Amino acid sequence: MSEKLKVGIIGAGGIASNVHLPNYIKQGDKVEITAVADVVKETAEACAEKFSIPYVYTDYEKMLEECELDAISVCTPNKFHAAAAIAALQAGCHVLCEKPPAMNVAEATAMAETARKHGKILTYGFHFRFAPEIMALKRFTAAGELGEIYAANIRAVRRRGIPGWGVFTNKELQGGGPLIDIGVHMLDAALYLMDYPEPESVFGATYQKIGNRKGVGLMGDWDWEGFSIEDMARGMIRFKNGASLILESAFAANVEKNDVMNVSLMGDKGGADAFPLKIYQEKHDSLIDISPAYLPKKGYHELEIEGFVNSCLTGEAPISTPGQGVVIQKIINGFYESAETGDAVKMDEIAQVKS
Ligand SMILES: NC(=O)c1ccc[n+]([C@@H]2O[C@H](COP(=O)([O-])OP(=O)(O)OC[C@H]3O[C@@H](n4cnc5c(N)ncnc54)[C@H](O)[C@@H]3O)[C@@H](O)[C@H]2O)c1
Repeated sequence: MSEKLKVGIIGAGGIASNVHLPNYIKQGDKVEITAVADVVKETAEACAEKFSIPYVYTDYEKMLEECELDAISVCTPNKFHAAAAIAALQAGCHVLCEKPPAMNVAEATAMAETARKHGKILTYGFHFRFAPEIMALKRFTAAGELGEIYAANIRAVRRRGIPGWGVFTNKELQGGGPLIDIGVHMLDAALYLMDYPEPESVFGATYQKIGNRKGVGLMGDWDWEGFSIEDMARGMIRFKNGASLILESAFAANVEKNDVMNVSLMGDKGGADAFPLKIYQEKHDSLIDISPAYLPKKGYHELEIEGFVNSCLTGEAPISTPGQGVVIQKIINGFYESAETGDAVKMDEIAQVKS
């Protein structure tokens, strides 16, 4: 590998241009942004011009063949994550792939296996792990301050926050709706804080009650006629260690707050809410709440890209691993299967069917 990490981008849309590229630039001398590929030529060219990227492609296979890259950000719609990540890993690149990992368990497993076979880093864009609240809470959970965490609630609920841009409402390209887009961030954060317990079963329900008709859009006018995803997902996950997690995620729901993102944990020695961070304990015959007077702050995305770049340069494992990607993908697919059939889905069965 050259002294600088030679980075390429696959998919030059919103997340690549607003998040990955500006944060690669912040890494200064460690990184050389070498090439960009997007199936839409104008998008690739506009991105290359904006970020002064020398090599531009409409075919990422060609980019991987010609550019001798060290690392790739996969920023395509979810349908193309697996193929792009696998091609990049096979070409000898480390990969930061946007979330969710893939469309199904078979793809997430193949991605993890390819990374292992080629000895390359594969990590996912779960940037909430880098939120100061989650990082602080992780220090508390790791120190045993909550004891055994046996219950969690997660919420990622918007009142009218259906994205009016991109392909977020297209099931064919994304594989799902708020569950895989915003719910997955809180789900990953909760699992991370709980040390990624092995899921046993999932029981879920999905709804499409608001997104498929015209209405007030706090995130722009969405394509309500082509709306093919759920607008709300609710369910429960049971883990093999006895813990359980209740999940609620919505792009649109008739609730008071415009946008709630939270992870709540309950352990036998303490509990916590992440946003805002508060820890609940019983000590010296008192019930006490701990809230931080100060939290170190750096952009979540900046820390995510910095972590990926450092991992590529030092070989240190990133905090989000390919195995965790498979676990979260199993939960997602199990959830949708349960929503469709109305029955709880056993994780062991989904692994057999889908991978
Ligand atoms: N971490 C976050 O909070 C966050 C936020 C937004 C989006 N995302 C994720 O980022 C990914 C992209 O989302 P976006 O909002 O940037 O979408 P987008 O539609 O703005 O951009 C995707 C780009 O990929 C290109 N593309 C499609 N197929 C391709 C292919 N086979 N090869 C190369 N380019 C291809 C499209 O032309 C488009 O320019 C999704 O996986 C999404 O879930 C993550």
